[in-house]
Amino acid sequence: MGQISFMSLIELHNITKIYRVGSQKVVALKNLSLVFERGDFAVLAGPSGSGKTTALNMIGGLDRPTSGQVLVNDLDLGKANLKRLADFRLHNIGFIFQSYNLIPVLTAAENAEFTLMLQKTPRHQRRERVLSLFADLGISGLEDRLPKDLSGGQQQRVAIARAIAANPRVILADEPTANLDSNTAEDLLSLMRQLNNSHGTTFVFSSHDDKVIRRAKRIIRLEDGLMVSDNSQNL
Ligand SMILES: Nc1ncnc2c1ncn2[C@@H]1O[C@H](COP(=O)(O)OP(=O)(O)O)[C@@H](O)[C@H]1O
Ligand SMILES: [Mg+2]
Repeated sequence: MGQISFMSLIELHNITKIYRVGSQKVVALKNLSLVFERGDFAVLAGPSGSGKTTALNMIGGLDRPTSGQVLVNDLDLGKANLKRLADFRLHNIGFIFQSYNLIPVLTAAENAEFTLMLQKTPRHQRRERVLSLFADLGISGLEDRLPKDLSGGQQQRVAIARAIAANPRVILADEPTANLDSNTAEDLLSLMRQLNNSHGTTFVFSSHDDKVIRRAKRIIRLEDGLMVSDNSQNL
């Protein structure tokens, strides 16, 4: 643990995160040290409040630790200014949130193209990519619908298309199956594994659901902000 490997993509060194709420202090992560390698398919497992979301936010550069160091692809996130962080996220990380976070006034295709647009990919290339992703994800024909006219599972697929459109090195998914029925959740896990296998995309996701947790190649358990185990399994 904490060892630097030449394959390492994400390194958390002694991360502590303390939230201050008024005069109260909440210690969300305590001395967390973790290394993720390229191609990892890892779950942060633990009950509500154990620090999963906080850990994902640190890795994605959405929030900074109170102390400790986060390195992703050799960038020290603690030393990067906000513009550099935004640029880092845009070019390296795909985010999948529990609540999908689709933009309500944009169509499914426009939502999925969003990252590519920020990256200034030409329009016809964006369209082509989105059409092929929608086909892969089984949502062809829904390109022009607004999020409100899609089911939960369909919205989640659009959110996945958005997350993977630009082929990010890392996909961070915070409880991606929490709002899905068990069949759709199964499909999503299979799709994530397929991307992991075919593109070598690194996945770090969180869950408190045993059915989801056991589909990960690596299971990192958190309790009260402490890592209590880190086990790899052959699937
Ligand atoms: N923005 C915040 N302000 C204050 N406390 C927070 C904030 N976010 C999370 N916490 C607290 O930090 C701890 C870890 O939360 P979180 O990372 O959201 O856990 P999980 O995702 O495993 O449910 C919890 O005690 C939670 O209440
Ligand atoms: Mg959470």
